[in-house]
Amino acid sequence: MGKRFAGTIFVAINFLVSCFVFLGSTFLFAKNSNKSLDFINLSTELSISNSPQVRIKSLQDNISPIVRLKSDTFRTSGSDINIDVSVNEPLITGDFTYFSLQADGEADRGLYKVTLNELKEGENEVELAFYDRFGNSTKKNITVEKRQILGESTIRGEVIWLDGDDILAVIDKEFALPSEYYPKDLVYIAEYSIPAVYGKFMLREVIIQDLSQLFADANAAHVNLLVMSAYRSYDKQRSVYNTWLSAAGITEANRVAALPGHSEHQLGTAIDFTTPEIGNSNYFDKTAAGKWLAENAYKYGFVLSYPQGSEEITGYRYEPWHYRYVGKDAAMDIHLSGKLPIVYLKEINKVYN
Ligand code: DAL
Ligand code: ZN
Repeated sequence: MGKRFAGTIFVAINFLVSCFVFLGSTFLFAKNSNKSLDFINLSTELSISNSPQVRIKSLQDNISPIVRLKSDTFRTSGSDINIDVSVNEPLITGDFTYFSLQADGEADRGLYKVTLNELKEGENEVELAFYDRFGNSTKKNITVEKRQILGESTIRGEVIWLDGDDILAVIDKEFALPSEYYPKDLVYIAEYSIPAVYGKFMLREVIIQDLSQLFADANAAHVNLLVMSAYRSYDKQRSVYNTWLSAAGITEANRVAALPGHSEHQLGTAIDFTTPEIGNSNYFDKTAAGKWLAENAYKYGFVLSYPQGSEEITGYRYEPWHYRYVGKDAAMDIHLSGKLPIVYLKEINKVYN
């Protein structure tokens, strides 16, 4: 009896276990069937999406690309600029209404070449619209300055522009004017009754009015000023430099004379002054004329290019006679700030060491 009962229990348990196994496997099968159905559906979907429209639709977004420009100001002499971009998805390149965009290598970051169709001389405010492949766009405003190239420096591994006609042009041992540059408005200063040690000096016409006023006021203060050197062509500067080179050797020549192309005298806005009592000597700053000029030159738009104690920055020995015209506003700023003219001009021209 006991054995039979035990046997019945065993059969019952077996039956229950079998039931569970059966139900479980049905459940699993059902799950698997569902999976299979999913898979079939997916395959169906994929086979439908063999049509390109459907496939694109399934991936499309309407999110604008994130575009970051390393800089938003550019300079060019033509119509192309290279923009350094980082983006979260590739941009569409090609021709657009106002510009064309070309990727340099990988399209998702790095340099894009932008060709701007309607740049005018001077500063241009330009809006660029960058598109992703679904037509979402991101707009960026940039400033592009179009300048004529008159000279360039590649010392820093980049092109640096120098416009000799610019009254605030940076010119030093790094920045040079090309040999063919000369100012187009040169005039003989004798024709404006500006006193000089010699009759054939030329300067830019744009500085004559302020220079005449300087001489008139100096005269009224009984200060006797003379022009000792003015515009010097590239070739003239070469002979000035070579004279120093043979007389004093290269180290000394480099402290007192600029290499051709590197002289402010080629700008037609630099003047070496003297006074009759000293002629061509070094002691200009000890004279009444030198002192008057040191105090008053800025009022007429002139600044001392190579002041005492600035050789480490300017590269030239103290030249109390060498003044450069930068206009009254800049001269006033330089006077008030106490900055060296070359430092001020580099800041204005956004040239940093
Ligand atoms: N004496 C100055 C540096 C020049 O030659 O331009
Ligand atoms: Zn000079």
